Amino acid sequence: MTEQPPEKIKAEIEKLVNELNYHCYRYYVLDSPVISDEEYDRLYIRLKGLEDRYHYILPDSPTQRVGAPPLDKFEKVKHTEPMLSLDNAFSFDEMREFDGRIKRLLKSDEDLDYTIEPKYDGLAIELTYRNGLLSKASTRGDGYEGEDVTQNIKTIKSIPIKIAGDGEIPAEIDIRGEVYMDIEDFNNLNKERERKGEPLFANPRNAAAGSVRQLDSSITASRKLHLACYGVGAFRGIDFASQWEFIAWLKKARFPTPAIVEKHRGIEKIIDALRKLEEKRKHFPFETDGAVVKVNDFSLQKQLGVKTREPRWAIAYKYASHQGITKILDIQGSVGRTGVITPFAIFEPVRIGGVTVSRSTLHNWDEMKRKDIRIGDTVVVERAGDVIPHVIAVIKDKRTGKEREFPMPNKCPACGSRVVREEGEVAVRCIGLNCPAQVRERIIHFASRGAMDIEGLGEKNVELLYSNGLIAHFTDIFTLKKGDLLNLPRFAEKSAQNLIDAIERSKRTTLARFLYALGILHVGEYASKLLARNFEKLDDLFRVKPERVTRIKQIGEKTARSVSDFFNDEQNLRTLKTLKALGVQISNPDFAGKETGERKGPLRGKTLVITGTLPRPREDVEALIEQLGGHAASSVSGKTDYVIVGENPGSKLQKARSLGVKTISYEEFLGLIGENE
Ligand code: IVH
Repeated sequence: MTEQPPEKIKAEIEKLVNELNYHCYRYYVLDSPVISDEEYDRLYIRLKGLEDRYHYILPDSPTQRVGAPPLDKFEKVKHTEPMLSLDNAFSFDEMREFDGRIKRLLKSDEDLDYTIEPKYDGLAIELTYRNGLLSKASTRGDGYEGEDVTQNIKTIKSIPIKIAGDGEIPAEIDIRGEVYMDIEDFNNLNKERERKGEPLFANPRNAAAGSVRQLDSSITASRKLHLACYGVGAFRGIDFASQWEFIAWLKKARFPTPAIVEKHRGIEKIIDALRKLEEKRKHFPFETDGAVVKVNDFSLQKQLGVKTREPRWAIAYKYASHQGITKILDIQGSVGRTGVITPFAIFEPVRIGGVTVSRSTLHNWDEMKRKDIRIGDTVVVERAGDVIPHVIAVIKDKRTGKEREFPMPNKCPACGSRVVREEGEVAVRCIGLNCPAQVRERIIHFASRGAMDIEGLGEKNVELLYSNGLIAHFTDIFTLKKGDLLNLPRFAEKSAQNLIDAIERSKRTTLARFLYALGILHVGEYASKLLARNFEKLDDLFRVKPERVTRIKQIGEKTARSVSDFFNDEQNLRTLKTLKALGVQISNPDFAGKETGERKGPLRGKTLVITGTLPRPREDVEALIEQLGGHAASSVSGKTDYVIVGENPGSKLQKARSLGVKTISYEEFLGLIGENE
């Protein structure tokens, strides 16, 4: 037998419900609680205990918000008044046109009162109250008929189950608003979903809509949802003269209203307010893509009426949108001037902030993997200001199973050469000498002073030749004709002849210079010289193994691998043969004799470092070391053979001692090279 609740208990339950609802309102609507969470919990537990014991549960009890048993499907709900959509304006001029239209329709020149509110980006719902109690909550659906989501909506704590406060209570009222999720809560939700391996929501709007349209209301209850009420449908037993008055009633009746509602007379004041709102919206905790401007006066609204599905008395002003949703039709690799290959996506064209976006970089393969971007995916693309577009997320819900990954290529998409990726680096590089994507950088380097020293082939002229189609490949330098140059703006007879002569002269070169000029990754002037000392002819490097290159004492593994990669690429070998066929002749005065390391000079294969002041200028001594087959290095390492210690030595001396590198005096150095008496 259930105990009948004595009047005293009933009164206590009523008091607890009212108190708890008030604190809910303070917390969820006003964001200014007056009691601690613990105190709230204490009251809640007391109420729950009494309700369970006496089976006396008020309809607006907070205990009724926790969710109900899952549904099989949503029931349909017809809206008494259709839920309309809004026409959009994308510029202030369109706002002025809107104002002009209204004035024409009203046959009036007088400035009108308008309200302005942020446009919430969530899910529109209608709350039906009968005699002050929430009887039904429904989605917008097609505008005429939506779905019954009452159980779910009740779990949103800012929504009053009973109209309270000191607002007048109408016999019946349909209140419209938007359910939305704050950006931070959206991010946290996605983080949690990622951890659990669940598909992510593309944006807060999808998260809010997905949370409301749950057959299991306990899921809705677990999501942090908010409501902003901005409109009224059918109502009886109350009257409002304007939007302004209606919003004031909502506030009194403890409904959550838009973060900002303003009223201004005349469209220019509204435009000012739109400008200000664009600034303010940056600080809103929620996303908003615009503002809604409404004719304030309800009788004027009625007079203006509706055209098909949009009221003539309201408009949504949209801020330049920075995001769009589109599909990836293809992913391709693009080769930059320095050979780095970057994946990029080709989209079904989408308009974002007034610009059509049809492609965007995907940065690199690591990034693409991290975001799990595939060909065929539906993605969210963002374009912030003038910045290039980015794919910010994949909408995994839209996957059909036909999406394809885009693997790292093993051949350059521009020239078919080998592609390398260095350990610990994200960049994927084409090492093709004749690669058309790299032709400008390669030629600029090839012609530079330390390399082939071709005067007249600097950056400007290379750009000129390239943009006029005279050089498309590296090998084209040696087929340039004077006649072609004369057609270009910057060349006259003499300058054209000079360039042709300089190119011709460069054809006779040394192996060391030529190797440096090829621009092999990590191979600078010094490494080129070392290679020339150790390899007699260019052909001796063809298909070289990295182990062979590391036998050269001063060359490390990274450089050796790069040299080997370069000379194992068939395209590169073909290009080198073409260069020979075009008349490039390479001598090698640096070669130090047959077989490894057996080089001329008493310092062959030795690395020396100088510290302190010597009796002769340091540069002279360094040149001498190089002349005698050694290498004059600037810093001490494990590879250093000798440190020559002069007067007032620096920290290099300590370094040598700590590494156990042999130190010698200048005199001992002379003894080493047989120069001392
Ligand atoms: S007024 C007939 N006010 O935007 C008037 N709507 O694109 C229609 N929305 O369906 C509603 N914030 O879901 C109004 N402050 C606001 C709004 C707002 C968001 C939504 C609403 C509407 C859609 C139209």
